[in-house]
Amino acid sequence: MAGVSQSSESVREGLEGVVVTATRLSHVDGEQGRLIVAGHDIEQLAERLDFEQACELLWATSGLESAGAALRPRLAAARAEAFERLHGLGDALARENAMDALRAAAAHLAENASPAQLVGALAVFSAAHWRVRRGLAPIASPPGARHSEALLAMLGLPHDAARSRALDAYFVTVLDHGLNASTFAARVVASTHSDLVSALVAGIGALKGPLHGGAPGPVLEMLEAIGRPERARQYLDAELASGRRIMGMGHRIYRQRDPRALVLERAASELERALAASDGEQSERDARLRGRLELARAVERAAEQVLAARHPERPLKANVEFYTAVLLSALDIDASLFSAIFACARCAGWAAHYAEQRHHGRLIRPASHYIGALPG
Ligand code: COA
Repeated sequence: MAGVSQSSESVREGLEGVVVTATRLSHVDGEQGRLIVAGHDIEQLAERLDFEQACELLWATSGLESAGAALRPRLAAARAEAFERLHGLGDALARENAMDALRAAAAHLAENASPAQLVGALAVFSAAHWRVRRGLAPIASPPGARHSEALLAMLGLPHDAARSRALDAYFVTVLDHGLNASTFAARVVASTHSDLVSALVAGIGALKGPLHGGAPGPVLEMLEAIGRPERARQYLDAELASGRRIMGMGHRIYRQRDPRALVLERAASELERALAASDGEQSERDARLRGRLELARAVERAAEQVLAARHPERPLKANVEFYTAVLLSALDIDASLFSAIFACARCAGWAAHYAEQRHHGRLIRPASHYIGALPG
């Protein structure tokens, strides 16, 4: 373009492969299929720590409140405080879309709210939204509960130890994941020295988009449409033939199976075993979960085969969302809430990135290549 000295060769659409910062928080190794969070493989982290402990580790790594009191009572206090203030949110929670409701409610938080207050509040808002939309009164968090148990209880769902462990495994698994779109959005806001609540609202806005965290609902629909393992192959072939993508398969970075899929598949298996060992009233649920897990495994195998035949050059394997659908639906969480539940965990990652960016970061201000009209 005459008179403009930029070159279009330097444009990297989607910032793919562009390294914009250094972080100690998490590392996504796409070639090896490995996710390291705060120095630990995600499989070990999810096995050994509950959500509160994983947050403490991540937050200490980011330089955020490493010496504070244990997180569990602070989150409990934050949930109680957010519950007390629900009446001040107007009709924010009554919005139809859960992410709209979360974004509107989060905007009411005090500008100087702490990370624990944000995490506690988001769980309360998610559960209250779900209940208000159904004409039910919000339920307060049971005192002394861990965060995962509290969220199930506030939703009015069964919240025994096995279920709360399963939700914990999910929370830890999705706590942080490199510079994904919502984390980047939160870091951009932090880089301007704006407040943490503004970064949270930006993160929620990015996560609302269907290209980020939106696949578990469609995965569930796909499993329901397939119904029986022997129908998987035919269904998937027809999907690909009509140009549609197989939900829960493929990833921008991973060239192996997403390691989070393994953690969540194991968590679903453990939940199934725990439900099978408990008494008769739950046996119907247990059978339903066992059936869904078997179906999911069969569909994953068939999907790998059809995708390998179609794309021999590019491994397309299960991503985190494949087994998220199985696990969250086994906890009786409705598909319309999946993204909000994701936000309940990922907001702790956003807070860690916010702190890291404020400590070490520079104003994020990329350039663009002008292709518009020139004057005169
Ligand atoms: N089903 C069918 N084909 C797929 C596919 C899927 N799930 N994922 C990728 N492909 C194909 C594309 O059609 C494309 O083929 P083409 O070159 O013949 O057009 C090729 O693989 C590369 O896809 P591309 O969109 O460039 O890869 P990406 O890195 O941008 O995409 C995803 C990553 C996650 C967006 C993509 O794999 C996808 O859409 N998956 C399904 C949705 C999903 O599960 N999202 C949750 C992600 S955690």
